[in-house]
Order: sequence, then C-alpha cells, then structure tokens
Amino acid sequence: MSSYTSTGTMVTPATELMEKFKDRTARVGVVGLGYVGLPFAVEKAKVGFRVLGFDRSQSRVDRVNAGDSYIGDVRDRELREQVQDRALLAATGDWDRLPEMDVIVICVPTPLTRNLTPDLQYIEAVSREVAGRLRPGQLISLESTTYPGTTEEVMKPMLEAGGLEEGRDFWLAFSPERVDPGNQRYTTRNTNKVVGAGHAVSREVALAFYRQTILHVVPVSSSRAAEMVKVFENTFRAVNIALVNELAMLCDRMDLDVWEILDAAGTKPFGILSFYPGPGVGGHCIPLDPHYLEWKAREFNFNTRFIALAGEINRRMPEFVLEKAMRLLSDHGLGLRSAKVLVLGVAYKKDIDDARESPAAEVLHLLAQRGATVAYHDPLIPRFREYGHDLESVPLTDGALDEADLVLILTDHSAVDYAFVARHARLVLDTRNATRGVPRGPGKVVLL
Ligand SMILES: NC(=O)c1ccc[n+]([C@@H]2O[C@H](COP(=O)([O-])OP(=O)(O)OC[C@H]3O[C@@H](n4cnc5c(N)ncnc54)[C@H](O)[C@@H]3O)[C@@H](O)[C@H]2O)c1
Repeated sequence: MSSYTSTGTMVTPATELMEKFKDRTARVGVVGLGYVGLPFAVEKAKVGFRVLGFDRSQSRVDRVNAGDSYIGDVRDRELREQVQDRALLAATGDWDRLPEMDVIVICVPTPLTRNLTPDLQYIEAVSREVAGRLRPGQLISLESTTYPGTTEEVMKPMLEAGGLEEGRDFWLAFSPERVDPGNQRYTTRNTNKVVGAGHAVSREVALAFYRQTILHVVPVSSSRAAEMVKVFENTFRAVNIALVNELAMLCDRMDLDVWEILDAAGTKPFGILSFYPGPGVGGHCIPLDPHYLEWKAREFNFNTRFIALAGEINRRMPEFVLEKAMRLLSDHGLGLRSAKVLVLGVAYKKDIDDARESPAAEVLHLLAQRGATVAYHDPLIPRFREYGHDLESVPLTDGALDEADLVLILTDHSAVDYAFVARHARLVLDTRNATRGVPRGPGKVVLL
C-alpha cells in the first residue's frame, strides 16, 4: 500500500521504515549477543536507536541488563551508559517481543559439524522463531558468516512460509560482520560494510539502515554475493597464513630465519601483503568459514583446492610446534616425557580473551599426550578447558619461568613483558616472534 505526502512524494512501507531510521524511532532487535551482536547492539544504541537484544542464554541476558559486559571489546561503562543511563539498550529471551522490532539483525554462531560441513542449526532455529512472528514492515538482516545461498535458499523460504512476501511485505538482506576483536583502529563505525539483498527494495532498506551508523557501506547485487565476499575474505587470510606457515617449515629445514625473510619481503612497496606464521589458526572464522565455501562448491561439482590445502597446512602447525619443541629439548639433553613446559598465551590471537578453536588447545594436548608436564600463563584467559584438560593460568614469575625446561610462546599478548621472559627462562620457543627487539641470548630463544 502506498500514499502520497503533501509534497507529492510517494510513501510506501519501505520509505516509512527508512524515515524511522533517520529519526531513530525504528526499534532494533539483535539476536545473538556474542562477540558480534553485543558490540553491534551497543553501537546502535549509541546513535540513539532503542535496541533490544535477544539471546537464548539467560545469564547473558541478565548480564547485559545489569550492565556487566562479558565481551572484551565492550567496556562495562559503555554498556551501563546505554542500559542504565540512557535506557536505550536491554536484553530478553522472550521471542514474543520480536514483532515490536522494525529491524531484526541476526548474529548467531555458524560452526562446522564434525565432518567439516556447515552446521546451520542456530540460523534455522532463529529463522523459525522470527518466521512464526514476522509482521509486515520488518527488515531482517543476517550477519552470521555462511556459504553463498543461505539467506535466499534457507531463510527466505522459512520466512515466506506464513504468506508474507519478501520485497513486498518484509525485507531481507545479508550483511557480513567484519569485526576484528581487539582492533583499536578499526571499529564497527569505520569498517566498511558490505550489504547485499536479492530484492532491490530489500537492498535499499538495508542500505538505509546500515548507513545510519557506518561511514562507508558497500552495496552488492545479491545476498549470495555478500555471503561470498565474507567467505572469500576469510579464505584469503587462511590461504596466505598457510603460505607463510609452509614457508616457516621450509625455512626450518633450510636453516633460514623465516621472520627475517618476511620482514625483508615486506619492504617491497607494492605487490605484497604481510602475513606471519604461527602455531596454527584459531577463532570462530579462519579455521571454519572456508569450509562453508568448500562444502557449497561441491554442489557445483567444484573442488576448492586452495581451501583444502590451506586447511591441511594450518592444521598441521601444532604438530610442527611439538616436533620443534622436542628437537630443542633434545639438543639440551632433555626428553619431552620428563620436561616441564610453560605455555605463554592460549588465546587464538594477541590481546583478546577468546580461546575458541585456538591452536594452543591442540599443542597443549600433544605435549601432555607425550608425557610433558604442562602449565600455562595467559593474562586474558584465567581458565582453559579443552580436550579434557582443565588448567588455570599460573602467575608469570621469575620462579615459574626458571622452573620450566621450555617456555613456549603461542600468543604474543602485549601485556606480557618478553624481556623479563627472555631473562628468566632457561629455553624459549617463540612461535610468534614476540621476543622481537628484546635481548635473546645466544641459543636461549629460538623462533618458529
Ligand atoms: N567473533 C568474530 O570475530 C566474528 C567476526 C566476524 C563474523 N563472525 C560471525 O558472526 C557470527 C556470530 O559469531 P560470534 O563470535 O558473535 O558468536 P558468539 O558465540 O560469541 O555469540 C553468539 C550468541 O548467540 C547466542 N545464540 C545461539 N543460538 C541462539 C538462538 N537460537 N537464539 C538466540 N541466541 C542464540 C549465543 O548464546 C551467543 O550469545 C558467526 O557466524 C561468526 O562466524 C564472528
């Protein structure tokens, strides 16, 4: 249904919603209050939208409502300001409040099954809840990383099952989240955001929504294209990390310093991008997302060989770290079975408190399996439970360093004093070049 304003401008449900974006009267629902959803919800509240977060975890709902953040990128003070001082943000587990929302942004997990195939159970569960309560005039935007086709092939039929039609009655888009946890320079606001939708009106409405809070929005022709952009970005990282990991293993064999090679290569002013080796890849993105694309490609009788190879190389890194640790200990007349190993850093990357899919889990497991006595220190992760191990971070004292036969640096957190580590440890294997610039002592600190 459309009407006209006094100046002759046509008013449609879409233009009405877009007006509500401009004057901030649109209600914004955010489903899934995790690493992506909570910062997003806070950002939208900051610019004046009334935001309601939905999460199936009651403890997360309670903590948001108490202004108590559980996500590193959101400070308690910031959260309390939106929840308590301005009363613009709240959380709930009550799906029946979905119809109050003008926009519903979905940021739920997209893990893999044991067989490395996409596990869409969370997207499907949320789509069912939304579909059962969908009302005309709502914009639904999926932000979870997934394979090209999910929005059109999985969500759209579920949402239209009740008789409403996308493009006419409601709008549907895909806009991948690019948040880089811990990154101080690029935040939600200044990170360009891609938006795609199958229907032109859906695209227009979604663009209008995201333009309210993001400096540069990049439209693409379809939700499939937007989904492909995201999985390509993460595949690009996975492949390039695998390339430098392979180079690190080759340099080890050729007795070359891979860090020296990469630093020198990085001085080329064009045609190169710096990536660094490490003990493997972790987090919710790089180890998982390329496999979403790999799986979808099979439907088109296409083998994504770069993805398979990168996955194979990156998954092999924990074993390479173990081999190198064994070699080092053996050079010092020690066997792993009787060795005490202190691991520094279990987060999957520096300066974040996230250990999901962290290669540290596998490294710790391999060390323990071979009989080493393992302890760890991570200033951001007080407790680490993986593979049946349950460890607490030990304080980083000169005594703890000196007691260890090997100190194994797996994450290069900025809060750790590496000069202190290099001074007090007896032997260090540094898989991140965290000790760059500190006196290393001949033979005492060995790089990956
Ligand atoms: N973490 C990142 O750095 C990052 C970056 C870009 C994209 N992504 C993508 O964003 C998506 C979300 O990732 P995340 O890291 O925020 O996940 P997360 O695990 O931190 O948060 C997901 C939240 O969803 C909630 N949830 C799960 N099922 C639900 C349901 N049925 N109903 C309501 N709430 C539900 C969980 O309780 C949790 O609070 C994933 O697809 C991920 O790949 C993540």
